[in-house]
Amino acid sequence: MEIPMSRRHFLSATAAASLGTLAIGAEPTRPVGGRRPIAVSSANGLPAVERAMELVKKGHDPLDAAIEGVAIVEADPKDHSVGLGGLPNEDGVVELDAAVMHGPTHGGGSVASIRNILHPAAVARMVMKRSRHCLIVGEGALRFARAHGFPEVELLTEEARQIWLHWKETRDANDDWLPPPDETVAAFIKQALKPRVTGTIHCSVLDTHGDLGCTTTTSGLSWKIPGRVGDSPILGAGLFLDNEVGSAGSTGVGELNLLNLSSALIVEGMRRGLSPKDAIMDVCKTIVRRCTKDPKRRQKDGRLAGNVLFYAVSKDGKYAGGSIYPGARMAVHDGDSARLEPVDALLDR
Ligand code: GLY
Repeated sequence: MEIPMSRRHFLSATAAASLGTLAIGAEPTRPVGGRRPIAVSSANGLPAVERAMELVKKGHDPLDAAIEGVAIVEADPKDHSVGLGGLPNEDGVVELDAAVMHGPTHGGGSVASIRNILHPAAVARMVMKRSRHCLIVGEGALRFARAHGFPEVELLTEEARQIWLHWKETRDANDDWLPPPDETVAAFIKQALKPRVTGTIHCSVLDTHGDLGCTTTTSGLSWKIPGRVGDSPILGAGLFLDNEVGSAGSTGVGELNLLNLSSALIVEGMRRGLSPKDAIMDVCKTIVRRCTKDPKRRQKDGRLAGNVLFYAVSKDGKYAGGSIYPGARMAVHDGDSARLEPVDALLDR
């Protein structure tokens, strides 16, 4: 798509805002250790693991590396599941959720339903470092971000607005909104409207000292009820770590993780001695067993409605991804190279 002049100006202003705010709250570097670093992420996180690895190899804190990694995707207007260009709520407003956890201090911070902030994961780091709280939401989160120097930006891109408008005009044949003739609707709009976007980015980093950091950041479920908060900013649900054990995080339908505190369960599984893969599969089984009890979380055939995907790395550098239904991939950097790898699923399609 040709980017109009005003949009190009907006993007360069956004890029400048991006560079300035990522330094807020970052740790000084320290000498590089002798351990093999690992960075894992969701399938949209290939640039994230590349950037995170570049930074840990220069002695950056693992959480700071994870935050700078996902910041590339937060600022990418083409990723409709995170940050700038994320699909909005049912009113057409982009609301972001993000959280961080820091292994060496067992610190955690998060923001939910925050508007107009390009890098919510960096704001979550400030909640962790410069408040006694763990979670700040909505208008309070925006005011906290502004107080710390984060500029406000418009997150609804022209492309995301067009997708949202088409959703609004086609969702109910009995309301007063009328869509344009089908043949005039751009292919990217039709493509984006199926399936419903539940994407997100998670990144867990094990540094050269064996210390962990992780973050999960998202624009959440597309067309959500305004104020809906998913799993991403909830410590234990969308991410969790224990610096003596490992780190885990998730993407997908957040309600399934809110009902199970899935990321904390995965880390607990690793603490009991399970491999990252077995810990993930154990939690996938738990989610299916518990959540199919509720009719609204079942398909017509009785199987679980919705999917979740997990990414985990253990303290000793083992990593895995996994999901309930197949087709998912994860991004990995093992210190030598970055790649996408397929992940195992608990169930068939
Ligand atoms: N996992 C992202 C969300 O449900 O909001």
